[in-house]
Amino acid sequence: MISDIIKDGINGNPNIPGDKSISHRSIIIPSISNGICEVNNILKSDDVLHTLNAFKSMGVKIIESNNKIIIYGNGLNSLTPSRDPIYLGNSGTSARLLTGLLSAQKFTSVITGDESLSKRPMKRISDPLSKMNAIIETTNGSLPITIKGSDLISSNIDLEIPSAQIKSGLLLAALNTRGKTNITETKVTRDHTEIMLKSFGANIRTEKIDNKKTITIDGQKELHSKNIDVPNDLSSSAFFIVATLINNNSRINLKNININPTRNGIILALKKMGANILLSNKRVNNNENICDIEVSSSNLRGCELGPEFADLMIDEYPILAVAASFANSPSVFRGLKELRVKESDRLKLILLNLQNCGVTSKVEKDDLYIYPSKNYQIKNNLIQTDFDHRIAMSFCVMGTKLGPLKIKDSQSINTSFPSFKNELNKVGSRIS
Ligand code: S3P
Repeated sequence: MISDIIKDGINGNPNIPGDKSISHRSIIIPSISNGICEVNNILKSDDVLHTLNAFKSMGVKIIESNNKIIIYGNGLNSLTPSRDPIYLGNSGTSARLLTGLLSAQKFTSVITGDESLSKRPMKRISDPLSKMNAIIETTNGSLPITIKGSDLISSNIDLEIPSAQIKSGLLLAALNTRGKTNITETKVTRDHTEIMLKSFGANIRTEKIDNKKTITIDGQKELHSKNIDVPNDLSSSAFFIVATLINNNSRINLKNININPTRNGIILALKKMGANILLSNKRVNNNENICDIEVSSSNLRGCELGPEFADLMIDEYPILAVAASFANSPSVFRGLKELRVKESDRLKLILLNLQNCGVTSKVEKDDLYIYPSKNYQIKNNLIQTDFDHRIAMSFCVMGTKLGPLKIKDSQSINTSFPSFKNELNKVGSRIS
Protein backbone atom coordinates (compact mmCIF):
# COMPACT_ATOMS: atom_id res chain seq x y z
CA MET A 1 0.00 0.00 0.00
CA ILE A 2 1.28 3.52 -0.79
CA SER A 3 0.05 6.60 1.05
CA ASP A 4 0.80 9.92 -0.64
CA ILE A 5 0.61 13.57 0.42
CA ILE A 6 -2.97 14.84 0.31
CA LYS A 7 -4.09 17.84 -1.73
CA ASP A 8 -7.10 19.52 -0.15
CA GLY A 9 -7.40 18.50 3.49
CA ILE A 10 -9.44 15.74 5.13
CA ASN A 11 -13.16 16.51 5.02
CA GLY A 12 -16.45 14.67 5.42
CA ASN A 13 -18.24 12.00 7.41
CA PRO A 14 -16.25 8.75 7.32
CA ASN A 15 -17.98 5.55 8.43
CA ILE A 16 -16.16 4.06 11.40
CA PRO A 17 -16.86 0.34 11.94
CA GLY A 18 -18.17 -1.33 15.09
CA ASP A 19 -15.94 -1.59 18.14
CA LYS A 20 -13.59 -4.58 17.98
CA SER A 21 -13.49 -5.35 21.71
CA ILE A 22 -17.27 -5.16 22.06
CA SER A 23 -17.78 -7.21 18.86
CA HIS A 24 -15.73 -10.12 20.25
CA ARG A 25 -17.70 -10.05 23.50
CA SER A 26 -20.98 -9.80 21.54
CA ILE A 27 -20.25 -13.24 20.10
CA ILE A 28 -18.72 -14.92 23.13
CA ILE A 29 -21.27 -13.94 25.79
CA PRO A 30 -24.52 -14.60 23.83
CA SER A 31 -23.05 -17.97 22.69
CA ILE A 32 -23.07 -19.19 26.32
CA SER A 33 -26.34 -17.48 27.33
CA ASN A 34 -29.89 -18.68 26.96
CA GLY A 35 -31.99 -17.21 24.17
CA ILE A 36 -31.67 -15.43 20.86
CA CYS A 37 -29.44 -12.39 20.45
CA GLU A 38 -29.44 -10.03 17.49
CA VAL A 39 -26.14 -8.15 17.28
CA ASN A 40 -26.30 -5.00 15.15
CA ASN A 41 -23.31 -3.15 13.68
CA ILE A 42 -20.90 -5.93 14.56
CA LEU A 43 -17.39 -5.44 13.15
CA LYS A 44 -16.85 -7.91 10.30
CA SER A 45 -13.07 -7.98 10.36
CA ASP A 46 -10.72 -10.97 10.29
CA ASP A 47 -10.16 -11.00 14.07
CA VAL A 48 -13.85 -10.94 14.91
CA LEU A 49 -14.67 -13.53 12.23
CA HIS A 50 -12.17 -15.87 13.87
CA THR A 51 -14.10 -15.59 17.13
CA LEU A 52 -17.36 -16.16 15.27
CA ASN A 53 -16.04 -19.25 13.47
CA ALA A 54 -14.68 -20.61 16.76
CA PHE A 55 -18.17 -20.63 18.27
CA LYS A 56 -19.73 -22.09 15.13
CA SER A 57 -17.15 -24.88 15.35
CA MET A 58 -18.27 -25.49 18.95
CA GLY A 59 -21.85 -26.07 17.84
CA VAL A 60 -23.40 -22.60 18.27
CA LYS A 61 -25.96 -21.66 15.63
CA ILE A 62 -25.05 -18.21 14.28
CA ILE A 63 -26.74 -16.63 11.27
CA GLU A 64 -24.99 -13.78 9.46
CA SER A 65 -26.51 -11.06 7.29
CA ASN A 66 -24.79 -7.77 6.30
CA ASN A 67 -23.52 -6.17 9.47
CA LYS A 68 -25.90 -8.05 11.73
CA ILE A 69 -25.66 -11.54 13.23
CA ILE A 70 -28.16 -13.65 15.16
CA ILE A 71 -26.84 -15.98 17.85
CA TYR A 72 -28.92 -18.84 19.27
CA GLY A 73 -27.48 -19.46 22.74
CA ASN A 74 -28.20 -22.60 24.78
CA GLY A 75 -26.54 -21.83 28.09
CA LEU A 76 -23.29 -22.10 30.02
CA ASN A 77 -22.64 -25.77 29.26
CA SER A 78 -23.97 -26.01 25.73
CA LEU A 79 -20.67 -25.80 23.81
CA THR A 80 -19.41 -28.98 22.16
CA PRO A 81 -15.78 -29.76 21.31
CA SER A 82 -14.51 -28.39 18.00
CA ARG A 83 -13.55 -31.18 15.59
CA ASP A 84 -10.39 -29.34 14.51
CA PRO A 85 -8.01 -27.11 16.45
CA ILE A 86 -9.51 -23.64 16.84
CA TYR A 87 -7.54 -21.29 14.57
CA LEU A 88 -7.67 -17.65 15.73
CA GLY A 89 -5.50 -15.94 13.08
CA ASN A 90 -3.93 -12.76 14.48
CA SER A 91 -6.41 -12.18 17.30
CA GLY A 92 -4.88 -11.90 20.77
CA THR A 93 -8.24 -10.95 22.28
CA SER A 94 -9.88 -14.14 20.98
CA ALA A 95 -6.94 -16.25 22.21
CA ARG A 96 -6.90 -14.89 25.78
CA LEU A 97 -10.68 -14.78 26.24
CA LEU A 98 -11.26 -18.26 24.79
CA THR A 99 -8.47 -19.76 26.89
CA GLY A 100 -10.33 -18.63 30.01
CA LEU A 101 -13.74 -19.73 28.81
CA LEU A 102 -12.57 -23.15 27.57
CA SER A 103 -10.60 -23.97 30.72
CA ALA A 104 -13.93 -24.35 32.57
CA GLN A 105 -15.64 -26.55 29.93
CA LYS A 106 -15.95 -30.31 30.10
CA PHE A 107 -13.79 -31.05 27.05
CA THR A 108 -10.31 -30.53 25.65
CA SER A 109 -9.57 -27.78 23.10
CA VAL A 110 -6.53 -26.81 21.08
CA ILE A 111 -5.99 -23.17 20.04
CA THR A 112 -3.66 -22.14 17.20
CA GLY A 113 -2.91 -18.83 15.48
CA ASP A 114 -0.88 -17.18 12.73
CA GLU A 115 2.87 -16.64 12.91
CA SER A 116 2.57 -13.32 14.76
CA LEU A 117 -0.02 -14.51 17.32
CA SER A 118 2.06 -17.66 17.88
CA LYS A 119 4.88 -15.48 19.21
CA ARG A 120 2.72 -13.62 21.74
CA PRO A 121 2.73 -14.48 25.45
CA MET A 122 0.01 -16.85 26.64
CA LYS A 123 1.39 -17.57 30.11
CA ARG A 124 0.00 -14.20 31.19
CA ILE A 125 -3.44 -15.88 30.98
CA SER A 126 -2.56 -19.53 31.73
CA ASP A 127 -0.63 -18.67 34.94
CA PRO A 128 -3.49 -16.85 36.72
CA LEU A 129 -5.94 -19.50 35.44
CA SER A 130 -3.77 -22.21 36.98
CA LYS A 131 -4.55 -20.60 40.38
CA MET A 132 -8.11 -21.81 39.69
CA ASN A 133 -6.69 -25.29 38.89
CA ALA A 134 -6.98 -24.89 35.10
CA ILE A 135 -4.99 -27.43 33.08
CA ILE A 136 -3.32 -25.65 30.16
CA GLU A 137 -0.26 -26.65 28.16
CA THR A 138 1.43 -23.89 26.16
CA THR A 139 4.19 -24.29 23.56
CA ASN A 140 7.11 -22.48 25.20
CA GLY A 141 4.64 -20.00 26.71
CA SER A 142 2.76 -19.34 23.44
CA LEU A 143 0.34 -20.96 20.97
CA PRO A 144 -0.49 -23.68 20.08
CA ILE A 145 -2.02 -24.42 23.46
CA THR A 146 -4.03 -27.34 24.73
CA ILE A 147 -6.72 -26.64 27.29
CA LYS A 148 -8.01 -29.63 29.25
CA GLY A 149 -11.36 -28.30 30.41
CA SER A 150 -12.22 -29.24 34.00
CA ASP A 151 -14.09 -28.15 37.14
CA LEU A 152 -12.17 -25.12 38.39
CA ILE A 153 -12.04 -23.82 41.94
CA SER A 154 -13.06 -20.28 42.81
CA SER A 155 -10.20 -18.16 44.00
CA ASN A 156 -8.92 -14.64 44.81
CA ILE A 157 -6.69 -13.39 42.03
CA ASP A 158 -4.66 -10.17 41.84
CA LEU A 159 -4.07 -9.07 38.25
CA GLU A 160 -0.32 -8.65 38.02
CA ILE A 161 -0.35 -7.36 34.44
CA PRO A 162 -2.92 -4.64 33.71
CA SER A 163 -4.81 -6.32 30.86
CA ALA A 164 -8.49 -6.48 29.97
CA GLN A 165 -7.78 -9.61 27.99
CA ILE A 166 -6.45 -11.42 31.06
CA LYS A 167 -9.20 -10.05 33.31
CA SER A 168 -11.88 -11.08 30.79
CA GLY A 169 -10.41 -14.58 30.37
CA LEU A 170 -10.56 -15.03 34.13
CA LEU A 171 -14.14 -13.70 34.31
CA LEU A 172 -15.25 -16.13 31.60
CA ALA A 173 -13.62 -19.01 33.52
CA ALA A 174 -15.24 -17.86 36.78
CA LEU A 175 -18.64 -17.76 35.11
CA ASN A 176 -18.71 -21.56 34.93
CA THR A 177 -16.99 -22.17 38.30
CA ARG A 178 -18.86 -22.87 41.51
CA GLY A 179 -18.51 -20.20 44.25
CA LYS A 180 -17.21 -16.65 44.36
CA THR A 181 -14.14 -15.62 42.36
CA ASN A 182 -12.58 -12.25 43.22
CA ILE A 183 -10.37 -10.52 40.68
CA THR A 184 -8.53 -7.41 41.85
CA GLU A 185 -6.87 -4.84 39.63
CA THR A 186 -4.86 -1.79 40.70
CA LYS A 187 -4.73 -0.20 37.24
CA VAL A 188 -7.62 0.66 34.95
CA THR A 189 -8.34 -1.78 32.11
CA ARG A 190 -11.28 -1.66 29.71
CA ASP A 191 -14.47 -2.98 31.33
CA HIS A 192 -16.63 -4.09 28.38
CA THR A 193 -16.81 -7.68 29.71
CA GLU A 194 -18.12 -6.64 33.14
CA ILE A 195 -20.68 -4.32 31.52
CA MET A 196 -22.03 -6.99 29.17
CA LEU A 197 -22.02 -9.80 31.74
CA LYS A 198 -24.00 -7.62 34.12
CA SER A 199 -26.61 -6.76 31.51
CA PHE A 200 -26.96 -10.49 30.67
CA GLY A 201 -27.84 -11.18 34.32
CA ALA A 202 -24.53 -12.53 35.66
CA ASN A 203 -24.01 -12.44 39.41
CA ILE A 204 -21.22 -9.88 39.15
CA ARG A 205 -20.39 -6.79 41.16
CA THR A 206 -17.47 -4.42 41.41
CA GLU A 207 -16.16 -2.60 44.43
CA LYS A 208 -13.65 0.25 44.29
CA ILE A 209 -11.50 1.14 47.27
CA ASP A 210 -8.86 3.79 46.60
CA ASN A 211 -7.01 2.61 43.48
CA LYS A 212 -8.15 -1.02 43.83
CA LYS A 213 -11.09 -2.46 41.93
CA THR A 214 -12.34 -5.91 42.91
CA ILE A 215 -14.75 -7.74 40.66
CA THR A 216 -16.67 -10.54 42.34
CA ILE A 217 -18.46 -13.13 40.26
CA ASP A 218 -20.64 -15.86 41.69
CA GLY A 219 -20.36 -18.67 39.16
CA GLN A 220 -22.67 -21.22 37.53
CA LYS A 221 -25.59 -18.83 37.15
CA GLU A 222 -27.20 -19.05 33.72
CA LEU A 223 -27.23 -15.87 31.59
CA HIS A 224 -30.13 -14.49 29.55
CA SER A 225 -29.57 -13.08 26.08
CA LYS A 226 -30.39 -9.55 25.01
CA ASN A 227 -30.01 -7.75 21.70
CA ILE A 228 -26.83 -5.69 21.32
CA ASP A 229 -26.07 -2.54 19.31
CA VAL A 230 -22.30 -2.35 18.91
CA PRO A 231 -21.11 1.28 19.03
CA ASN A 232 -18.38 2.46 16.65
CA ASP A 233 -14.74 2.03 17.55
CA LEU A 234 -12.77 4.90 19.12
CA SER A 235 -9.46 3.14 18.36
CA SER A 236 -10.36 3.02 14.65
CA SER A 237 -11.61 6.64 14.81
CA ALA A 238 -8.21 7.76 16.12
CA PHE A 239 -6.59 7.42 12.66
CA PHE A 240 -9.19 9.79 11.16
CA ILE A 241 -9.01 12.17 14.11
CA VAL A 242 -5.22 12.55 13.81
CA ALA A 243 -5.31 12.78 9.98
CA THR A 244 -7.72 15.70 10.39
CA LEU A 245 -5.76 17.42 13.16
CA ILE A 246 -2.40 17.42 11.35
CA ASN A 247 -3.67 18.51 7.91
CA ASN A 248 -4.75 22.06 7.04
CA ASN A 249 -8.30 22.91 5.93
CA SER A 250 -9.71 19.74 7.47
CA ARG A 251 -12.91 18.90 9.34
CA ILE A 252 -14.69 15.58 9.95
CA ASN A 253 -17.72 14.34 11.86
CA LEU A 254 -17.82 10.88 13.40
CA LYS A 255 -21.07 9.33 14.61
CA ASN A 256 -21.94 6.94 17.43
CA ILE A 257 -18.42 6.48 18.84
CA ASN A 258 -17.79 4.50 22.03
CA ILE A 259 -16.15 6.70 24.68
CA ASN A 260 -16.08 4.24 27.57
CA PRO A 261 -14.05 6.10 30.27
CA THR A 262 -11.68 3.12 30.69
CA ARG A 263 -10.58 3.69 27.10
CA ASN A 264 -10.87 7.39 26.23
CA GLY A 265 -7.21 8.34 26.84
CA ILE A 266 -6.61 9.33 23.21
CA ILE A 267 -9.24 12.08 23.45
CA LEU A 268 -7.77 13.34 26.74
CA ALA A 269 -4.22 13.24 25.36
CA LEU A 270 -5.04 15.03 22.10
CA LYS A 271 -7.03 17.71 23.95
CA LYS A 272 -4.01 18.23 26.20
CA MET A 273 -2.06 18.83 22.98
CA GLY A 274 -4.53 21.55 21.97
CA ALA A 275 -6.65 19.52 19.52
CA ASN A 276 -9.97 20.91 18.29
CA ILE A 277 -12.19 17.99 19.24
CA LEU A 278 -15.82 18.46 20.16
CA LEU A 279 -17.90 15.69 21.72
CA SER A 280 -21.66 16.09 21.36
CA ASN A 281 -24.89 14.15 21.73
CA LYS A 282 -23.48 12.13 24.65
CA ARG A 283 -25.69 9.17 25.49
CA VAL A 284 -25.68 5.65 26.92
CA ASN A 285 -26.64 2.50 25.00
CA ASN A 286 -26.27 -1.06 26.34
CA ASN A 287 -24.57 0.63 29.34
CA GLU A 288 -21.74 1.90 27.10
CA ASN A 289 -21.05 5.65 26.76
CA ILE A 290 -21.27 6.93 23.20
CA CYS A 291 -21.22 10.30 21.44
CA ASP A 292 -20.61 12.08 18.13
CA ILE A 293 -17.22 13.70 17.52
CA GLU A 294 -16.32 16.75 15.43
CA VAL A 295 -12.64 17.35 14.67
CA SER A 296 -10.86 20.15 12.80
CA SER A 297 -7.28 21.10 11.86
CA SER A 298 -5.28 22.16 14.91
CA ASN A 299 -1.94 23.61 15.93
CA LEU A 300 -0.81 20.86 18.27
CA ARG A 301 1.69 21.35 21.07
CA GLY A 302 3.85 18.57 22.51
CA CYS A 303 3.01 17.08 25.89
CA GLU A 304 4.20 14.74 28.61
CA LEU A 305 1.98 11.76 29.40
CA GLY A 306 2.58 9.62 32.48
CA PRO A 307 2.12 5.83 32.59
CA GLU A 308 -1.49 6.24 33.77
CA PHE A 309 -2.36 7.27 30.18
CA ALA A 310 -1.03 3.93 28.89
CA ASP A 311 -3.81 2.18 30.83
CA LEU A 312 -6.44 4.30 29.06
CA MET A 313 -5.12 4.20 25.49
CA ILE A 314 -2.54 1.43 24.99
CA ASP A 315 -3.61 0.80 21.37
CA GLU A 316 -3.36 4.47 20.36
CA TYR A 317 0.37 5.22 20.87
CA PRO A 318 1.33 4.51 17.24
CA ILE A 319 -1.11 7.13 15.96
CA LEU A 320 -0.39 9.50 18.87
CA ALA A 321 3.30 9.34 17.87
CA VAL A 322 2.29 10.53 14.38
CA ALA A 323 0.32 13.43 15.90
CA ALA A 324 3.29 14.35 18.12
CA SER A 325 5.56 14.47 15.05
CA PHE A 326 3.59 17.51 13.81
CA ALA A 327 3.33 19.38 17.12
CA ASN A 328 5.26 22.59 17.74
CA SER A 329 7.21 21.25 20.74
CA PRO A 330 8.62 17.88 21.96
CA SER A 331 6.60 15.12 23.63
CA VAL A 332 7.41 12.31 26.02
CA PHE A 333 5.12 9.33 26.59
CA ARG A 334 6.07 7.29 29.65
CA GLY A 335 5.48 3.72 30.81
CA LEU A 336 4.94 1.97 27.46
CA LYS A 337 6.20 -1.50 28.45
CA GLU A 338 3.01 -3.29 27.32
CA LEU A 339 3.51 -1.91 23.78
CA ARG A 340 6.32 -4.43 23.34
CA VAL A 341 3.95 -7.44 23.45
CA LYS A 342 1.15 -6.29 21.16
CA GLU A 343 0.60 -7.47 17.56
CA SER A 344 4.28 -6.48 17.12
CA ASP A 345 6.91 -4.87 19.32
CA ARG A 346 5.19 -1.55 18.77
CA LEU A 347 7.72 0.53 20.66
CA LYS A 348 10.50 -0.76 18.40
CA LEU A 349 8.49 -0.24 15.20
CA ILE A 350 7.22 3.23 16.13
CA LEU A 351 10.83 4.31 16.71
CA LEU A 352 12.21 2.64 13.58
CA ASN A 353 9.53 4.09 11.30
CA LEU A 354 9.63 7.57 12.84
CA GLN A 355 13.39 7.63 12.34
CA ASN A 356 12.99 6.43 8.73
CA CYS A 357 10.59 9.35 8.22
CA GLY A 358 13.27 11.71 9.55
CA VAL A 359 11.58 12.35 12.92
CA THR A 360 14.14 12.72 15.71
CA SER A 361 13.00 10.33 18.43
CA LYS A 362 14.36 7.96 21.06
CA VAL A 363 13.25 5.30 23.53
CA GLU A 364 14.74 5.30 27.02
CA LYS A 365 13.61 2.42 29.21
CA ASP A 366 9.90 2.31 28.37
CA ASP A 367 9.54 6.01 27.53
CA LEU A 368 9.18 7.42 24.01
CA TYR A 369 10.57 10.90 23.18
CA ILE A 370 9.59 12.75 20.00
CA TYR A 371 11.26 15.99 18.82
CA PRO A 372 9.20 17.42 15.96
CA SER A 373 10.54 19.57 13.12
CA LYS A 374 8.98 21.73 10.40
CA ASN A 375 11.02 20.09 7.68
CA TYR A 376 11.47 16.32 7.52
CA GLN A 377 13.94 14.53 5.24
CA ILE A 378 12.73 10.97 4.58
CA LYS A 379 15.55 8.44 5.08
CA ASN A 380 13.69 5.31 3.96
CA ASN A 381 10.10 5.41 2.77
CA LEU A 382 9.47 1.67 3.28
CA ILE A 383 7.43 1.27 6.48
CA GLN A 384 8.05 -1.97 8.42
CA THR A 385 4.88 -3.24 10.08
CA ASP A 386 5.58 -6.86 11.09
CA PHE A 387 1.94 -7.50 10.09
CA ASP A 388 0.65 -5.05 12.71
CA HIS A 389 -2.57 -3.31 11.61
CA ARG A 390 -2.19 -0.28 13.88
CA ILE A 391 1.38 0.42 12.74
CA ALA A 392 0.20 0.14 9.11
CA MET A 393 -2.76 2.52 9.58
CA SER A 394 -0.74 5.03 11.62
CA PHE A 395 1.94 5.35 8.94
CA CYS A 396 -0.74 5.65 6.22
CA VAL A 397 -1.78 8.76 8.15
CA MET A 398 1.88 9.85 8.31
CA GLY A 399 1.92 9.45 4.49
CA THR A 400 -0.81 12.11 4.12
CA LYS A 401 1.87 14.63 5.24
CA LEU A 402 5.20 13.02 4.29
CA GLY A 403 4.27 10.65 1.46
CA PRO A 404 4.73 8.71 -0.62
CA LEU A 405 5.28 6.09 2.09
CA LYS A 406 5.17 2.40 1.16
CA ILE A 407 3.49 0.32 3.84
CA LYS A 408 4.66 -3.31 3.99
CA ASP A 409 2.21 -6.13 4.74
CA SER A 410 -0.73 -3.71 4.78
CA GLN A 411 -3.24 -6.56 4.45
CA SER A 412 -2.99 -6.78 8.28
CA ILE A 413 -5.42 -3.83 8.29
CA ASN A 414 -8.19 -6.35 7.54
CA THR A 415 -7.82 -7.70 11.08
CA SER A 416 -9.61 -4.65 12.48
CA PHE A 417 -10.71 -2.21 9.74
CA PRO A 418 -11.27 -3.73 6.27
CA SER A 419 -12.78 -0.49 4.85
CA PHE A 420 -9.94 1.74 6.15
CA LYS A 421 -8.44 2.67 2.78
CA ASN A 422 -11.81 3.42 1.13
CA GLU A 423 -13.03 5.51 4.05
CA LEU A 424 -9.79 7.52 4.33
CA ASN A 425 -9.69 8.08 0.55
CA LYS A 426 -13.35 9.15 0.66
CA VAL A 427 -12.40 12.04 2.95
CA GLY A 428 -9.32 13.17 1.01
CA SER A 429 -6.34 10.83 1.41
CA ARG A 430 -4.47 9.32 -1.56
CA ILE A 431 -3.83 5.71 -0.66
CA SER A 432 -3.33 3.22 -3.47
C1 S3P B 1 -8.37 -5.69 24.30
C2 S3P B 1 -7.54 -5.34 25.31
C3 S3P B 1 -6.23 -4.70 25.13
C4 S3P B 1 -6.05 -4.15 23.73
C5 S3P B 1 -6.55 -5.08 22.68
C6 S3P B 1 -8.02 -5.40 22.89
C7 S3P B 1 -9.65 -6.35 24.62
O1 S3P B 1 -5.21 -5.66 25.39
O2 S3P B 1 -4.69 -3.85 23.50
O3 S3P B 1 -6.40 -4.48 21.39
O4 S3P B 1 -10.54 -6.41 23.74
O5 S3P B 1 -9.80 -6.81 25.75
P1 S3P B 1 -4.71 -5.88 26.91
O6 S3P B 1 -5.92 -6.00 27.72
O7 S3P B 1 -3.92 -7.14 26.93
O8 S3P B 1 -3.90 -4.67 27.22
